[in-house]
Amino acid sequence: MKFDIITIFPGIFNGFLSESLLSKAIKKKIITIKTHYLRDWTEDKHQTVDGKPYGGGPGLVFRIEPLFEAIQSLSLKFKVKSSKLRKKEKIILFSPRGKKFTNELAKKWSKLDQLIFICGRYEGVDERVAEHIADEVVSIGDYVLNGGEVAAMVVIEAVARQLPGFMHDADSAVKDDHAQYTKPEIFEPKKGIKWRVPKVLLSGDHKKIDEWREKHGR
Ligand code: 6GU
Repeated sequence: MKFDIITIFPGIFNGFLSESLLSKAIKKKIITIKTHYLRDWTEDKHQTVDGKPYGGGPGLVFRIEPLFEAIQSLSLKFKVKSSKLRKKEKIILFSPRGKKFTNELAKKWSKLDQLIFICGRYEGVDERVAEHIADEVVSIGDYVLNGGEVAAMVVIEAVARQLPGFMHDADSAVKDDHAQYTKPEIFEPKKGIKWRVPKVLLSGDHKKIDEWREKHGR
């Protein structure tokens, strides 16, 4: 599966892509992740990506032209008429006004060949990008971030861990769905105070343990 990220801050992704399970998945060729510098698709000397909003108001808005050029080079959406000839791809615009990202969406998107992310900055993106270019506008939660970069990382991680071979064992994509404990059985933060592991988990009675986990799931 291929992820393409359009951003004016590609450096934000460096640590994210080079550490932990994600870098292993990249090495194993389970995923390909490319960042693309939006200014590479500008024509003017100053590589301008934003402009003043029509109707007035504070802040600047991302212009549509560089984003359209970027999409033209990364996607077949505006080149190939028949959707059958196109790869299974989706263009996602990140915006705090978008529809909420969920694990259900992560599962759905993990079946695609390519996800193309447009990371807007918080001031906004020319609305024609949402109207005509993006397949979906997505938010990761009810708070406002400075831009879509952190949202892109959240979505990449949630989608990638749904892919076969990404996690160590087959069912760990759903792990963390119930409360868990490890040694020591009794932890003493200070004298006279004991924080214990629930007895049933130490009992070896797997029927009882499964029932307990059912009750303490999400
Ligand atoms: Cl996708 N973008 C921004 N700027 N803020 C957000 C968000 C996205 N999701 C939640 N807050």
